[in-house]
Amino acid sequence: MSPPHRNSDLDTPECLDASAHAALRAEFPLLSTGVYLNNNSTGAVPRGAEQVLTGYWRTLRNWRDEVWQDWHAGLDRYADSVAAFIGAPPGSVVTDANLSTLLARVASCFDYRPPRNRIVTTDLEYPTVPFIWNAFRRYGARLDVVGSGSPRFDEDAVEARIDERTLLVCIPHASFSSGATVDLPRLVRRAHDVGALVVVDAFQSVGVMPMDVTALGVDVVLGGAHKWLCGVGTAFLYVRPGLVPQLEPAATGWQAGDRAFTFQPSTGWAGGARRFAGGTPFPLTSLISQVGLDLLAGVGAGPIRRHSLACTQRILERAAVAGIDVVSPTEPHRRGGVVCLDVADGEAVKRRLVARDMVCSWRGYLRVGPHVYNTLDEIDTFMDALDEELKR
Ligand SMILES: Cc1ncc(COP(=O)(O)O)c(C=O)c1O
Repeated sequence: MSPPHRNSDLDTPECLDASAHAALRAEFPLLSTGVYLNNNSTGAVPRGAEQVLTGYWRTLRNWRDEVWQDWHAGLDRYADSVAAFIGAPPGSVVTDANLSTLLARVASCFDYRPPRNRIVTTDLEYPTVPFIWNAFRRYGARLDVVGSGSPRFDEDAVEARIDERTLLVCIPHASFSSGATVDLPRLVRRAHDVGALVVVDAFQSVGVMPMDVTALGVDVVLGGAHKWLCGVGTAFLYVRPGLVPQLEPAATGWQAGDRAFTFQPSTGWAGGARRFAGGTPFPLTSLISQVGLDLLAGVGAGPIRRHSLACTQRILERAAVAGIDVVSPTEPHRRGGVVCLDVADGEAVKRRLVARDMVCSWRGYLRVGPHVYNTLDEIDTFMDALDEELKR
């Protein structure tokens, strides 16, 4: 196997400075309700959301249609903030209700004419990914699922399956089930060498792992707000600007048209990523999610990653002492934000932990997902509680 991608600076565990960390924690009221290590499922939302909600109600109570101008500015601001966070230019990101909606919209851009009709993916995807691509079989898409044989991605096997028949490689940046990360530069290189595009599901990475879509040269990136981005109810789609003119979504809506705001039938596409918009958007979720994203951007993707690695390293150390089997890769450059632990009777253990306000999740394994606002003390408290539950 060739050596996986490393970025030694970013892969060095290091906690945030204590006073900056305390100030950050104070923004997240959820943290006072227990030890919250469930960020791979749902992240904490900052208290600034309350003001947004109050303002939204004020807007609804005094409704005038002119409000849409501000709302569109808010939607664009959030999309451009996501773009900046992932190294993309303004206008290259669009948002919608969830990742599934946006991935299906991307899928609707292709005609799946053989021989280039294959979608290479893996068996470590979030279930929505194979579900959507299977639905496109009726239009000629051929799904090629590469077995991983373990909770890690097997890049050798994926690379071997990418050839001139490959239309798209659809792969996550980090697995939702094991936290394993993918060597994206390697797969992007291979896909582009044979004329295939790369679609990345970055829901489990953006917010906790740095991503520079421009440096990667990746074609499409999707993610969402409600986990590592500390938001709620919105998802994003980045399309490489040079690729945009070649893609025409069949699953579309009036806001993607060039004459959308004249309320005349459009004959062409709106500029930039807005061609991947749908119908009337729901601005509240972007307005709320902006608060969390601004806080994260203020910390910076590099320091977030290093703090996350310090937290996951503490979980690994404590698991080793307790003799708990770790499912996730342990090398820093191979693990994302979550550590999955294989414990007997895991679902019941998770239920008992949550009843003690030690919040984690269970998807076949116990998933422990600290974020930048968690402390090493919280990890220790959680692992003490886990120890106790396993000895019951
Ligand atoms: C990797 C990954 N992709 C996608 C999703 C969900 O997508 P959607 O926004 O369509 O619910 C999740 C989790 O909810 C996920 O972990």
